[in-house]
Amino acid sequence: MAYGAFEQTYAAAEDRYEHLAYRRAGASGLDLPPLSLGLWQKFGTDYSPQTQRDILLHAFDLGITHFDNADRYGPPHRAAQQVFGTVLAKDLAPYRDELVLSTKAGNPISPSPYHKGGSRKSLLNSLDHSLRDLGTDYVDVFYHHRPDPTTPIEETVGALAGAVQQGKALYVGVSNYAPEQAHEAVVLLRAAGVPLLVHQPRYSIFDRTPETSGLIDLAARDGFGLVVYSPLAQGLLTDKYLSEIPAGARAENSAFLKPEQIDATYRERAAALNALAAERGQSLAQLAIQWVLRRPEVTSALIGASSTWQLDHNVKALDFPALTDDELKIVDEHGVHGTGL
Ligand SMILES: NC(=O)c1ccc[n+]([C@@H]2O[C@H](COP(=O)([O-])OP(=O)(O)OC[C@H]3O[C@@H](n4cnc5c(N)ncnc54)[C@H](OP(=O)(O)O)[C@@H]3O)[C@@H](O)[C@H]2O)c1
Repeated sequence: MAYGAFEQTYAAAEDRYEHLAYRRAGASGLDLPPLSLGLWQKFGTDYSPQTQRDILLHAFDLGITHFDNADRYGPPHRAAQQVFGTVLAKDLAPYRDELVLSTKAGNPISPSPYHKGGSRKSLLNSLDHSLRDLGTDYVDVFYHHRPDPTTPIEETVGALAGAVQQGKALYVGVSNYAPEQAHEAVVLLRAAGVPLLVHQPRYSIFDRTPETSGLIDLAARDGFGLVVYSPLAQGLLTDKYLSEIPAGARAENSAFLKPEQIDATYRERAAALNALAAERGQSLAQLAIQWVLRRPEVTSALIGASSTWQLDHNVKALDFPALTDDELKIVDEHGVHGTGL
């Protein structure tokens, strides 16, 4: 179905704020939902427009107000933002002030030297393009997608602060920055009067880098929130790969999750974690989400979804009691850093 053929029939669920307990992003005044939805995979021209629209609207109906995008997301690059822009125009426009829209720039999206890195030109070009794709005057959070050691951090941070000063972004973030880089950004941004709102690292039972690198402690000290991506390790921390790779699953058709990663060691660890989840009466996906959110420095777990069922299922994670110390020890035993990555 062409996007233009959507009927404008959407009205947001009236009980949408009754499902989630919102969490404050660091020392800011902004609350984010404990689960945010990212459009990295399964959004773009290769997928059903209707399914993408259903997922976005269902997320909002569940109280997921925060949607994470990037100029790079697709396929092709920019397409995920264009999908979101279409749904925003047709359905979500009346709710724009209830949405936190994030975008990022700095990962390469073409061979052009101005479509990558951390230069002022690349970042502000990309932001203008993203605003056009999304069909909005401002984004809520503008991120530098990954550090660029070839550009002075003063220039990169100056471009982020400039986006806020120009009214094109309300807040700024960085992603994939090591703690020392993040701290430098915090200091420079503070001097520019634009505090760092959030940092976006990868964090899951299978990737504990933010703990070992000191990033989580830094977030508490420097007052920024963590919006942690791939908390389900792209689906590895669910029960879907325990026996086989199901048709249509990410490991079947993504450059970022290869079938070779679903090996015997992975299956052994995932099965043990799955057994722990079963003892708690929940699924492995729900356990994995609760596990990242056990840290107060984590403002939001940034998930992906390929169906509305996954959204419903993952939101239910928030209904279970906190993991006990004994359960956390079992997670430590089987959630070996680097598994499947
Ligand atoms: N800043 C960065 O550099 C960066 C990098 C990566 C991601 N991100 C952000 O983080 C977002 C989330 O990343 P991610 O998609 O890797 O997160 P994830 O939550 O770890 O993985 C999501 C995938 O797991 C599967 N899934 C979700 N719930 C499930 C359930 N209950 N049961 C079975 N399978 C389930 C789905 O894949 P199937 O297709 O197999 O159904 C879904 O697309 C991205 O969209 C993006 O916004 C940022």
